[in-house]
Amino acid sequence: MPTATDSEILTRVGPGTPMGQLLREYWLPACRSDELQADGAPLRLMLLGEPLIAWRDTSGRVGLMDHRCPHRRTSLFFGRNEQGGLRCVYHGWKFDVTGRCLEQANVPARFAAPDKVAAKAYKAEERNGIVWAYMGGRREAPPLPCFEAVLLPEAEVSSFWVLRECNWLQSLEGDIDTSHVGFLHDGLLKPDELAPDTIHRWAVTDRAPEYDVADMPWGTMYGAHRDATPGNTYYRFAHFLFPFWALIPAGEFGNYITARAWVPMDDTHTMFTHFAWRKNASTNRIRNDGTMMPGTRKPLGYLPRTSGWYGRWRPALNADNDYGIDRDEQRDHSFTGIEGIHMQDTAVTESMGPITDHAGEHLTVSDLMIARTRQRLLRTAKALAAGTVPPGVDDPQSYLGARSGDFVASSSLTWREAYVAELRKSVSPTGRLQVPLAAE
Ligand code: FES
Ligand SMILES: [Fe+2]
Repeated sequence: MPTATDSEILTRVGPGTPMGQLLREYWLPACRSDELQADGAPLRLMLLGEPLIAWRDTSGRVGLMDHRCPHRRTSLFFGRNEQGGLRCVYHGWKFDVTGRCLEQANVPARFAAPDKVAAKAYKAEERNGIVWAYMGGRREAPPLPCFEAVLLPEAEVSSFWVLRECNWLQSLEGDIDTSHVGFLHDGLLKPDELAPDTIHRWAVTDRAPEYDVADMPWGTMYGAHRDATPGNTYYRFAHFLFPFWALIPAGEFGNYITARAWVPMDDTHTMFTHFAWRKNASTNRIRNDGTMMPGTRKPLGYLPRTSGWYGRWRPALNADNDYGIDRDEQRDHSFTGIEGIHMQDTAVTESMGPITDHAGEHLTVSDLMIARTRQRLLRTAKALAAGTVPPGVDDPQSYLGARSGDFVASSSLTWREAYVAELRKSVSPTGRLQVPLAAE
């Protein structure tokens, strides 16, 4: 269990906090490119506890800046996005996407000095339909992230976004907590409801897997394992990638390419972005008779979008309606009575409270990956304060050995040998998947 101080370090993301500093070393997925139109309305974006606006100028460049005007602090959300700049509606000062002041319209020409004032702006870059933000202190930003799901061309990858109303860490931890799958999502599923060639059946045959965990160049990795047929082991591999990414084992390892970002908006709100290769194998949720498992049938619905700080990608099922829990369904058909894998995860995670009270937890061996990941985050945040550049910032290609998914392998292999052997057989549409040389 982390100390109270360490819990504070792990969960607080604002400017000047140790975790806030660590997060600011990395590029963050900020919004979708199609959320910003040239000369269109600015978008309110809360990122790492900073209220920002994102906008696209006449020529298509993206600006990302403090929403407050540097003159008298009016919100630039109300600004006029016109002719290559954003003009504050209070006194008409105009800024370009880099924050440079182009005009101080209310100041007599002989007193105007626009080059002496600037809006606070961050670097933004677009790749494959995503706007990335760099909020760190380097003059030259580090390279963009480099792992398969974010390198795929826009046409080959789907991304979906959902607001989560709680701290980023507990949200991330749900993705590296594999034993919940046999309960929260599959609790009433019987192994013989799944076809014999569906390896996911092993996950519901034995619902208490053992874990191996290791520190890796990109973060942490686990291999959860249980017996399959005689002489064979069923594995589920997953990863935490600095600073907030998870690769989860919700598909067949050989061709399952995914990445899930838990971007802290502030201490109690998180924007989830799921990147998935459109050709991912995902037969896990289909039963013998061809029907989808209970609780997985309806797509996620959203509330109408608003222009508020938390107005984007809000799920229609949420704490206000108890995530739509249906007690009859819960009794007879699904473990939770809540429709949708994502909403099941959301209900349990948000119900921990806005920030999980670590002092009240009782972690056990099934939480090995969570404990290891917290330690790694803490060590890395403290090392950064002492001047050590965190993993993957300058060498993002070191993430290319991370792949998640499930498979069955000979029990004669060690878990690390099984991982490497499976990686060598895996499909790589980017051609850039690598076999990692060693654990940290
Ligand atoms: S407050 Fe923005 S121009 Fe005055
Ligand atoms: Fe889950």
